[in-house]
Amino acid sequence: MRIDKLLSELGICTRREAAKIAKSGGILVNGVPERDVSQHIDPDKSRVSVLGRQVVYQKYTYVMLNKPTGYVSATDDKSLPYVTELLPEELRRRELFPVGRLDRDTVGLMILTNNGTLAHSLLSPKHHVKKEYYFTAAEPLRDGVEQIFHDGVTLADGYECKSAELYLSPDRREGRIVLTEGKYHQIKRMIASQDNRVTSLERISFGGISLDSSLSRGEWRYLTDEEIALLEKQG
Ligand code: URA
Repeated sequence: MRIDKLLSELGICTRREAAKIAKSGGILVNGVPERDVSQHIDPDKSRVSVLGRQVVYQKYTYVMLNKPTGYVSATDDKSLPYVTELLPEELRRRELFPVGRLDRDTVGLMILTNNGTLAHSLLSPKHHVKKEYYFTAAEPLRDGVEQIFHDGVTLADGYECKSAELYLSPDRREGRIVLTEGKYHQIKRMIASQDNRVTSLERISFGGISLDSSLSRGEWRYLTDEEIALLEKQG
């Protein structure tokens, strides 16, 4: 791979910046200054450093973001704030995208990656990846709804949901729902099917990865190796 392409893909610098740094001797390949950034290297075999810092090559990047309300689950939008705006410039250059969508007013765990194959496979209905949400409702949910959701509730448009787990608080106005699918507005529509309304919704886990409680809304962190392995096992 070309040196400038490698550095820009890793979000270390732009291609233009790479050319400038290389000219001044700031890029070393196996300890030797390389002034021509169009040179090809094997990132798994060569040691590259930029301005004294070792380049760690990772093909894919994975982050978790605590999505705030008001942001759309997209990598671009003409009029609305979008989630990748919350990432620093070097990560935006890595072209991460959200694994699945959350509504604009839904908050909580969002995983972003540039591994399209894994993202696609995690979202495939075949893989039944669990997504867990915390919600509040306008009214107490009626008795028996746990069983109805377990059996697969039918939405207003006739769609029959897959079995979902529902755990309600004693006053039945809030609770957790675990889904293995992700249809448009699914939880809002499931609650609406019970003549009720979701008043707040937060995703608290995805594929067994829980939202890191040290992240405030709008903050992100890299996934750990264990978390990445957990996703790979399910994808
Ligand atoms: N269900 C919804 O209704 N909205 C979301 O954002 C996620 C699940």
